[in-house]
Amino acid sequence: MKVYADGNLRYGVIGAGIQGQKHIEVIDLMPNTSLIAICDAQAERARSMALKHGAQHALVDWQELLALDEIDAVSIALPDHLHREVTVAALEAGKHVLLEKPMATSVEDAEAIVEAQKAAGTKLMINWSNRWMQAFAKTKERLDAGDLGDPLYVYARLNNTLYVPTQMLSWSANTRLPFWLICHRYDIARWYFGSEAKKVTAVSRSVVLKEKGIDTPDFYQATVEFEDGQVGNFESCWILPESMPYLVDSKFQLICTSGYVNIDPTPPVHQLATEEAYSHEGFLFGNVFGEPVGFVRNAIEHFVNCCLTDRTPMITGEDGLQITRALAAMVEAAETGEAVYL
Ligand SMILES: NC(=O)c1ccc[n+]([C@@H]2O[C@H](COP(=O)([O-])OP(=O)(O)OC[C@H]3O[C@@H](n4cnc5c(N)ncnc54)[C@H](O)[C@@H]3O)[C@@H](O)[C@H]2O)c1
Repeated sequence: MKVYADGNLRYGVIGAGIQGQKHIEVIDLMPNTSLIAICDAQAERARSMALKHGAQHALVDWQELLALDEIDAVSIALPDHLHREVTVAALEAGKHVLLEKPMATSVEDAEAIVEAQKAAGTKLMINWSNRWMQAFAKTKERLDAGDLGDPLYVYARLNNTLYVPTQMLSWSANTRLPFWLICHRYDIARWYFGSEAKKVTAVSRSVVLKEKGIDTPDFYQATVEFEDGQVGNFESCWILPESMPYLVDSKFQLICTSGYVNIDPTPPVHQLATEEAYSHEGFLFGNVFGEPVGFVRNAIEHFVNCCLTDRTPMITGEDGLQITRALAAMVEAAETGEAVYL
């Protein structure tokens, strides 16, 4: 087992946007982990996060961060389409890598990342953090215990409001819903089925976002037949009205030979009314007493603990490559109107 300097895993975060900031907050709190450097193309963002969380280096060039020999591990939280070059370079520089989902937006990119990881022999985890949501994790335990029989069918819906592609992400035209949203639920279905995609059919439509000048489809619906006979039906849109109480609308159903699971991850568990306004929130993650809690934190902690104790992370590069093949097939099937056989 590798012994890190002073027993500490020395850490860098590349991409300090919405998701990268969560990585920074969690790394800052973890024992035996030192946050050394933060990199973001927006210099002020890198600088303010470094100041707030005590990182020595605030950088705009990720190559400078990877050149820091003292860094053992990095999180990469860049826009979906920018994962390959930085991840390959990080692995070549001998760093352990926690790469945000999706692994990549093409099979070629995912293959290059897996090759680099094999050559480097360092750890690579793709952050499909929804596996750490209690409902999905508990379901996996009950499946593995044999309580539900064999899994046969998944229906999974994961939607966003229009705020996400129009305001939250400056780069929404550079990704597609299978990579941005469906990937979360596809990862869960594949994990439950223990099988790979064999045949993929899909449809998508471009109306609302196209009118707004954003070149990416409004919704996708994909049906995947797996090698062992299971079927998954995946659908995502990101044009729900912004008046919705949550950014996310989700529904997940698992039908087994002797069991059924129904998961609604965003119920209003907390109502709060003042004289001025009413709100209700799901509290799947967030901050309690100033510290991040929930599945986002748990997933990052898992990766750090794997580095510290020399274990293989739960979601490897090989998993990421298999998932990318299915997601890319959804995009291709929707574009061509033809079934894709893998
Ligand atoms: N695991 C999850 O549940 C989850 C949730 C949200 C987002 N994500 C993923 O995290 C990644 C980041 O998403 P986000 O919502 O934080 O996006 P974002 O746009 O908020 O952040 C991206 C950041 O990268 C920076 N950046 C862009 N190009 C750069 C470059 N060449 N060098 C350095 N910095 C650069 C931008 O300035 C920005 O701060 C995406 O791949 C997304 O799919 C994962």
